[in-house]
Amino acid sequence: MSETLAQFEQRKKDHIRIALDPQSQARGLSGLDRVRLIHEALPEINFSQVKISTQFLNQKLRSPIFISSMTAGHEQAGLINLKLARAAARHGWMMGVGSQRKELTSSEATQEWKKIRQEMSLESHRAVMIGNLGLTQVIQTPVSQIQKLVDSLEASALFVHTNPLQEALQKEGTPHFQNGLKALENLCKEIEIPVILKEVGCGFSQSTFSKIRGIGLYGVDVAGLGGTHWGRIEGLRNSEDKLLFEAAKTFENWGISTVESLLMAREMSPDYCLWASGGVRSGLDVAKLLALGAEKVGVAQPILVAALSSTKIGDDEALDLVMQRLELELQIAMFCTGCDHLEQLSSKKVWTWT
Ligand SMILES: Cc1cc2nc3c(=O)[nH]c(=O)nc-3n(C[C@H](O)[C@H](O)[C@H](O)COP(=O)(O)O)c2cc1C
Repeated sequence: MSETLAQFEQRKKDHIRIALDPQSQARGLSGLDRVRLIHEALPEINFSQVKISTQFLNQKLRSPIFISSMTAGHEQAGLINLKLARAAARHGWMMGVGSQRKELTSSEATQEWKKIRQEMSLESHRAVMIGNLGLTQVIQTPVSQIQKLVDSLEASALFVHTNPLQEALQKEGTPHFQNGLKALENLCKEIEIPVILKEVGCGFSQSTFSKIRGIGLYGVDVAGLGGTHWGRIEGLRNSEDKLLFEAAKTFENWGISTVESLLMAREMSPDYCLWASGGVRSGLDVAKLLALGAEKVGVAQPILVAALSSTKIGDDEALDLVMQRLELELQIAMFCTGCDHLEQLSSKKVWTWT
């Protein structure tokens, strides 16, 4: 039975509510606790020299940290996304938007981003946004229609998310991934902006990394195990459906950790750039992933928690605080490893295992 619009909106709201619950988090499984950055007691630089600015496709960014794709297409989403987009512009971060699936069937939904872009025209910085669509939709949708989605958002790139575990455990799921690789290759060839493949918290294996070589992807965000876990979220949503609830419990720690995924990808000298997310909870985590070879690092759940701590437009204290904290901690990690710019984090060997 296909999902009604009301059920779709309720599902999206449930996801937000449950993502705030600590039980939805695969804490301690990202592998980040095992990575140590090596302290440099003689850094030979001043703290003020530490620069975290970078760029994406010739657009300047004040930080390599980005807001990971979250929500869209329901009544709460407009407010959350406006807050997030404004914060991204204020801080000079990129923002991945939540799945634009609803825009494929609702002209009203396409207005959500147009409105946000209009309201944002007063901001001094323009937010760099990345569109988002699931692989199961990419398989079924002509590229011309996907192009319209990214145009309405004025997106600089498109994230395609792949989420087999979530689709399999979701009552209304669409676990249809046959021909996904071919659809992805075709999308990369025909769409006018770069495509970045991402998971949603279960990471990528060595075999997946080799499958996607040569298909024209700009990048991969490993989005690994260790933070928000969609097996857990769908399980918590289905507490009255004993079968799905029990099955979700079995898979509550399923996935490949963010660190393991990133290291596997790096060893394979990929022909796409590597980004990382999944369980990033501090600027020190960001520094570790940059040191391991990620070019950009995404954060989702902690940003959502901060954005929702006040529903008032203009009250962004918690959001600003978490973003500033992540930046400051990244700067401190760079300073204490003797790195004054981001490239040094990966070019000098500043990490070890414990
Ligand atoms: C409420 C919520 C909604 C999300 N929706 C999407 C989505 O629509 N598309 C997507 O690619 N990822 C989505 N994600 C996954 C995130 O982009 C990210 O990959 C994942 O949450 C891991 O990051 P975290 O541990 O920092 O939360 C969502 C995450 C959250 C918390």
